[in-house]
Amino acid sequence: MAAKALLLLALVSLFLGLAAADWSILNQKYWRNNNNAKAADTLKSYCESWRMNVELHNIREFQVVPQECVDYIKKYMTGSQYTADSERAIEEVKLYLTSCCSLQNDGKDAWIFDVDDTLLSTVPYFKKHGFGGQKLNLTSLEAWMEECKAPALEPTLKLFNELKDKGIKIFLVSSRRETLRSATVDNLISAGYHGWSSLILRGLDDEYLQMQQFKSEARKKLVDQGYRIWGIIGDQWSSLKGPPKPNRAFKLPNSIYYL
Ligand SMILES: *[C@@H]1O[C@H](CO)[C@@H](O)[C@H](O)[C@H]1NC(C)=O
Repeated sequence: MAAKALLLLALVSLFLGLAAADWSILNQKYWRNNNNAKAADTLKSYCESWRMNVELHNIREFQVVPQECVDYIKKYMTGSQYTADSERAIEEVKLYLTSCCSLQNDGKDAWIFDVDDTLLSTVPYFKKHGFGGQKLNLTSLEAWMEECKAPALEPTLKLFNELKDKGIKIFLVSSRRETLRSATVDNLISAGYHGWSSLILRGLDDEYLQMQQFKSEARKKLVDQGYRIWGIIGDQWSSLKGPPKPNRAFKLPNSIYYL
């Protein structure tokens, strides 16, 4: 009975704690009372769950990575696990391609890619700008994009070429603005990409649209033109959800920002 009451009390205080705006795992009593190794373990589990729930789309519209997890996310995004997770996602696309699609080779088989953190990596930018721990500053991010220094995500580059070799038309649908068109094209080329069919960016008229709505409408135009969208790969849920649905959607990891 006592144990149950204690558990209830713990849950209630956890709930109250979560409700407070400044809730932080670092302020919790058990954290302060534990030794360092145990505490580090607890923090790691906490941040791992945060990251997992971002990927599961349970956590939505986060504006910043929780302060206590910035180091963890930095380690993840710059370490071998992020690479392994991305490579695995691409492997699954390749597996899907072995049996998914009755390609007609009539120029209407299509595939959609996101640009940032799908074809090109923004990790070098975030390394210098707080790694998701600061609210996204579009001015400074766009200035960085203008420099055309984003490297390719190597596993995605391989997939891009494989799809192209199969005769599938490649469409790039990006949340980047139309003003970044020439910088984006230059960066894609210098990172090793060429031969896409169209790069669809957000024009002035699209800027009032929600990201998901913009991407939905871009897909709808392609479907109306007779394209069969066999798949999409992107790092944002807004790229994958909403009508018209592709045959399959593949999500790449990204726990730095949410669009
Ligand atoms: C955003 O970045 C620009 C360019 O680096 C800078 O001038 C501006 O102060 C930043 N804004 C905020 C809110 O930090």
